[in-house]
Amino acid sequence: MFVNGGNLFFKRESIPPKLKPKSLLLCDLLVEGYNQIGCDALNVGAYDLSLGVDFLLDLEYKLRFPLISANLYDRHGRRYFRPYVLTEAAGVKVGIFGLIRPKLKFSRIPQGYKLAVRSPGQEAAEIVKELRANGAEFVILATDLNERSSRRVARSAPGIDLIVGTSRRNQISLPFKLNGAFVTHLDRGGKTIGHLEVSRAPDGTGSWKFHNRFVPLKVSIPDDPVVGPLVKATLAEIAKLQKADVASAAPEDDSACGKAYLGAEACGKCHPDRLKGWHKTAHSRAYETLVKDKRQFDEDCVVCHALVFECNNGRLDRENLRKFAGVQCESCHGPGSVHAETRGQAAMDTGRVCTRCHTPERSEIDNFMARIQQICPTPDTSASRP
Ligand code: HEC
Ligand code: HEC
Ligand code: HEC
Ligand code: HEC
Repeated sequence: MFVNGGNLFFKRESIPPKLKPKSLLLCDLLVEGYNQIGCDALNVGAYDLSLGVDFLLDLEYKLRFPLISANLYDRHGRRYFRPYVLTEAAGVKVGIFGLIRPKLKFSRIPQGYKLAVRSPGQEAAEIVKELRANGAEFVILATDLNERSSRRVARSAPGIDLIVGTSRRNQISLPFKLNGAFVTHLDRGGKTIGHLEVSRAPDGTGSWKFHNRFVPLKVSIPDDPVVGPLVKATLAEIAKLQKADVASAAPEDDSACGKAYLGAEACGKCHPDRLKGWHKTAHSRAYETLVKDKRQFDEDCVVCHALVFECNNGRLDRENLRKFAGVQCESCHGPGSVHAETRGQAAMDTGRVCTRCHTPERSEIDNFMARIQQICPTPDTSASRP
């Protein structure tokens, strides 16, 4: 079986207009991809509502798999989606129900005023009873609740066998068993697949045995022959959109921020050795990596592979992408204007400067501080006051 806890179609609570075309293309891709792969149930997560509930209801017609949500209602107490599905796997009757997290920011969701969300715990208790009464032998909750709320639901609604959540970075403490429920959460963004084997415990009590694995989707895993080309086509389409957008954007003006960036070459006037050293590092070529990938105008990538600042229009533009390509001196040391004011006391949170970009899912590098010689080589004996 294949179950998803939600937040599939979009990645944020509300989508700014400039990201809408890209988001729609990605959403179409996900619909087609999931239709191809097949899915037993997809819970409606908070982010799935970021273009409004009507958008999702329209989208439902294109889906060849069910959307579920037990606790999402309209203002008249009617559910928008079916609360659960009853299906069968290996001769076992399986009930899958969905819960959305209750604290939605209704004002940020288009037509958010139409929505009402009921308490997950209470709703779960009722639905589990109904599922059991309808013959479900195994009950799954698919949800975008965080780990703490999932615990609460497991406590207040006995009879859940499995909770599949979608929550960032809490695999470390997972999975665990609580009040009979096996609780597991997956990272967002399709970086990992959860693989769970369930079997009857041999003790004859009718209880279940679980064997859980998280499978990271590494680039070395070959693409699906059908979905792979779909992904490529969509990325090419998005790249075209972004290229046009970048070409038409007026250069971002940093003076409005009250701070100004100089670029590595300018720093190099007084720190020539550092500049020379920097040119030898992968950081100085990080933007070329994106060019090779044809992702050089994608804001999801340039934020770490170039120095991007937002002051006025918040759009990427050609001039600044050229000037601030790669991981710049100022990506680590902060804006040069601050340096000028403080006469060399550039503020840097040395402990955190690397992990901002070297997140665990992106980079296997550790021991950052031991690498400083490598990424910002000394000696710099030639720094001189103008
Ligand atoms: C006009 C010359 C000049 C320019 C341009 C310049 N610096 Fe400096 N920088 C200095 C001098 C002088 C010092 C003090 C050197 C010393 O004390 O050995 C310094 C010190 C530093 C230090 C050490 C800070 C500290 O806390 O002592 C850092 C980091 C630094 N500069 C980064 C940069 C960066 C990044 C840029 C480009 C945005 C830059 N500098 C541009 C002259 C300059
Ligand atoms: C603004 C984002 C950003 C910051 C901040 C950053 N890095 Fe990087 N780093 C990158 C990117 C992007 C690459 C990959 C460059 C490429 O090859 O395209 C990289 C590559 C590297 C590499 C080379 C890896 C290799 O395979 O050769 C090392 C080492 C490294 N970073 C260390 C550090 C350290 C240490 C810090 C903190 C002092 C740091 N980085 C801060 C984005 C960043
Ligand atoms: C959160 C920051 C971040 C974002 C966002 C990001 N990257 Fe990176 N990227 C890195 C870091 C850090 C490395 C270096 C990894 C290492 O060697 O440890 C890297 C390395 C790479 C590499 C391998 C470089 C090499 O030759 O070894 C490629 C390719 C790449 N990124 C492409 C992308 C693309 C495409 C996107 C957008 C979809 C993207 N990155 C978004 C931080 C980021
Ligand atoms: C990937 C992050 C990163 C990049 C890029 C980077 N640096 Fe550094 N730099 C550091 C770190 C970390 C240190 C060590 C700071 C410390 O120990 O407090 C350092 C040290 C320095 C120092 C000496 C500071 C001191 O206290 O003595 C200077 C000057 C400097 N960098 C200038 C530059 C210049 C100029 C560039 C660009 C050509 C550059 N750095 C690029 C991270 C970076």
